[in-house]
Amino acid sequence: MVQQTDRFDSLSELFNEAIIIVDRTGVVERSNAKAFELLGAHIAHRPLDNFLRHPDFQDALDAASTNGKITDLNYTRMGQVRRDFKIRIAPFDDGQIILIIFDITMELSVERIQSEFVANVSHELRSPLTALTGFIETLQTSAKEDVDARERFLGIMQSEADRMQRLIDGLLSLSRVEAEEHRPPRDALDLMKVVEDAIAALRFRASSNDMEIVVTNDWPEVDGVPVVNGDADELSEVIHNLIDNAIKYGHDGSEIAVRISTGRGVDQKFRPDLARVQIINQGDTIGEEHLSRLTERFYRVDKGRSRNMGGSGLGLAIVKHIVNRHRGRLRITSNDGETCFSITLPCVMRS
Ligand SMILES: Nc1ncnc2c1ncn2[C@@H]1O[C@H](COP(=O)(O)OP(=O)(O)OP(=O)(O)O)[C@@H](O)[C@H]1O
Ligand SMILES: [Mg+2]
Repeated sequence: MVQQTDRFDSLSELFNEAIIIVDRTGVVERSNAKAFELLGAHIAHRPLDNFLRHPDFQDALDAASTNGKITDLNYTRMGQVRRDFKIRIAPFDDGQIILIIFDITMELSVERIQSEFVANVSHELRSPLTALTGFIETLQTSAKEDVDARERFLGIMQSEADRMQRLIDGLLSLSRVEAEEHRPPRDALDLMKVVEDAIAALRFRASSNDMEIVVTNDWPEVDGVPVVNGDADELSEVIHNLIDNAIKYGHDGSEIAVRISTGRGVDQKFRPDLARVQIINQGDTIGEEHLSRLTERFYRVDKGRSRNMGGSGLGLAIVKHIVNRHRGRLRITSNDGETCFSITLPCVMRS
């Protein structure tokens, strides 16, 4: 018995799982440190079902002690955070029963995220597809001879097809950026130039909404130019997505400010080793409750409005992943109609 106890102690501590030995009535005889951590040290020599309530628990114990049967039970604990477990119950020595508790919280949450993602993508694709199918049917039947209607419908079909194209482009971009995220970029880039180049392509779109993009460079002249280790295409995509939003969600006729300056640390103090790009627009204030969720894929404050503007809710998710890859930080604030997206990136220090 002493030998068995020693063996249990040394072996059970090698596993990440909680391992418990109970007698045939379910009273705890032995358990490893992980089991104490999960259920509390007070389980020792007490009936386990006082701490681990499951309707099939007793049946599983009976099946193990009388028929030598192994049973797996799914078990969920709803504490501050939900945790999911699989409990394997199997016969052990001398009528004892062993329980191994596997923590499957991560596995299940990955599965949940994946199925949620598939559901979201399908949902996003369904509405333009339904519209396209509807118009094709109309063109084949009632609007067959109607030249005006045909032109109008073809225009709508084109914009629905464009929406699907943008969604696919966004998804591809997101998956490319996610795959790269753990590999920091290496090229030394002049941040100011990346920003200027990205903006040049958007000035025309801004002006068609009667908006102006005003760039201010507050980077101290003595420090030369802000140089970051980056990927030019990705940083350009960040600026592009943020200004695209500023144009879409800013008020017509308002100004979009782009400021480059020395960054600040979490304590708000200036840090010469950080560069900051801020994109500020005037429009509706984004409610506090939305701010932390904006970078989730497919998250939109006003689904209908954003969708009408052709948005699929992927732009900021892409921005977040690119900024993470660059070991930078994204901060979003929105007060009194002024919304600011602020990106802080580590600079290449030069002596
Ligand atoms: N400058 C802004 N002002 C107000 N709301 C904004 C601003 N930028 C983003 N949002 C809100 O955040 C949501 C998410 O933005 P995001 O760029 O991820 O998606 P989108 O613009 O709807 O679509 P996509 O960028 O994929 O075309 C938007 O739908 C909008 O509700
Ligand atoms: Mg966007």
